Amino acid sequence: MSAAASTEIENARIAVIGLGYVGLPLAVEFAKKYNTVGFDINESRVRELRAGFDRTLEVEDDKLKAVLVESVNGQENGLYCSSTLADIQESNFYIITVPTPVDKHNRPDLTPLYKASETVGKVLKKGDIVVYESTVYPGVTEEECVPVLERVSGLRFNQDFYAGYSPERINPGDKEHTVSKILKITSGSTPEAAEKVDNLYNAVITAGTHKAASIKVAEAAKVIENAQRDINIAFVNELAKIFNRLGIDTEEVLEAAGTKWNFLKFKPGLVGGHCIGVDPYYLAQKAQEAGYHPEIILAGRRLNDGMGEYVAHEVIKLMVKKDIPVKGAKILVLGITFKENCPDVRNTKVVDILHTLKDYQTNITIYDPWAEPAEVKHEYGWDSVKELDNVTECDAIVLAVSHNEFKSLNLSELCKGNAVIYDVKGVLPKELSDARL
Ligand SMILES: NC(=O)c1ccc[n+]([C@@H]2O[C@H](COP(=O)([O-])OP(=O)(O)OC[C@H]3O[C@@H](n4cnc5c(N)ncnc54)[C@H](O)[C@@H]3O)[C@@H](O)[C@H]2O)c1
Repeated sequence: MSAAASTEIENARIAVIGLGYVGLPLAVEFAKKYNTVGFDINESRVRELRAGFDRTLEVEDDKLKAVLVESVNGQENGLYCSSTLADIQESNFYIITVPTPVDKHNRPDLTPLYKASETVGKVLKKGDIVVYESTVYPGVTEEECVPVLERVSGLRFNQDFYAGYSPERINPGDKEHTVSKILKITSGSTPEAAEKVDNLYNAVITAGTHKAASIKVAEAAKVIENAQRDINIAFVNELAKIFNRLGIDTEEVLEAAGTKWNFLKFKPGLVGGHCIGVDPYYLAQKAQEAGYHPEIILAGRRLNDGMGEYVAHEVIKLMVKKDIPVKGAKILVLGITFKENCPDVRNTKVVDILHTLKDYQTNITIYDPWAEPAEVKHEYGWDSVKELDNVTECDAIVLAVSHNEFKSLNLSELCKGNAVIYDVKGVLPKELSDARL
């Protein structure tokens, strides 16, 4: 590290824009060493964080409280959470971690990125560096966000201010692979900016960094990591459909094939959340703009997006086979979050199972000890419960998410003797379920 870069890092004042699953853990790490402001437009989120509570459960309350400070000025290090623009005006590194969703036609929606860039543009000063962490397609940082920064600030890119891109690889709910323990890709808009960005992250990421050749390379690397997972899961989902028709247990096939040294161990399942099920659409959009129509990437998406409906139809078929009347049947769905041991319900594909089961006029109870019923209602209009009281005599149980709590449930107490038990996640002993995906 050059002496100039080193001084710059020592004097870093960091603003993290967007305190969600990605932004908050990162801000907490930076706050251990640097003067850090966490900025979010959601005032109730900021109030909760100031009180030392993270509803995403990514940062434990005591760890959050340990870094919180009461005012933005004067502290050497520590985290101050705010919704006030003036509180980030003294920062010199702006790290943007806002959502990058798709719209209802699966097209990238860059609105939060444009808005966050406008916010930063208002306080941008000479010498500042703006690093984007949100998952995007190659080109978004320099072609979409930087022009907003230039327009709002009146400053010139790579003369007055600089940009970087450093994608996030965290896995919500995973307490082992936390932000500082995952090697991080960094990049910058000039060699000097790239070095500063790399040095900044190296100061807090104990797993180290990989300095990519350019911002576009770093953007592309992130989006293909998730597209690769999506395609691999789509392949095993397709196998599950084939083997189901052939009367062969997919898990047993995968277990046998997995004994080969280079067989990739993926499991069939629903692909929800805001990463694996969304990011491939970002790559597909950019490919289409460049005149190439992706085949494998979109085929994988189509296949994975259809799995919820497939599961529901399998459950109904099994009920019919067992002479269980479908209309009005009591069905218990275990889990509504997009993945296990995590409260996040956004873009959960369990709702596809629910919609199809509802089409058959079944009577559904959703039990999820992790999901907030108010959030489930707000996002999807479904009622869910966090406690399993008075649920008995079910005609079918669908284990949709493998929360730890479900592994010790006595399912026979909850259902009728001949009920259908469908294990989407393959976590129950084989003899306890009628079928698994
Ligand atoms: N969650 C993950 O597992 C994960 C992993 C890797 C990468 N990513 C990517 O990281 C990005 C953020 O994801 P997330 O899961 O943390 O999202 P999130 O929805 O949990 O958090 C985003 C936060 O940004 C805030 N916000 C929105 N617009 C804002 C604005 N204009 N100014 C300030 N704050 C604003 C929201 O209020 C929210 O608190 C996305 O691009 C996502 O694809 C997420």
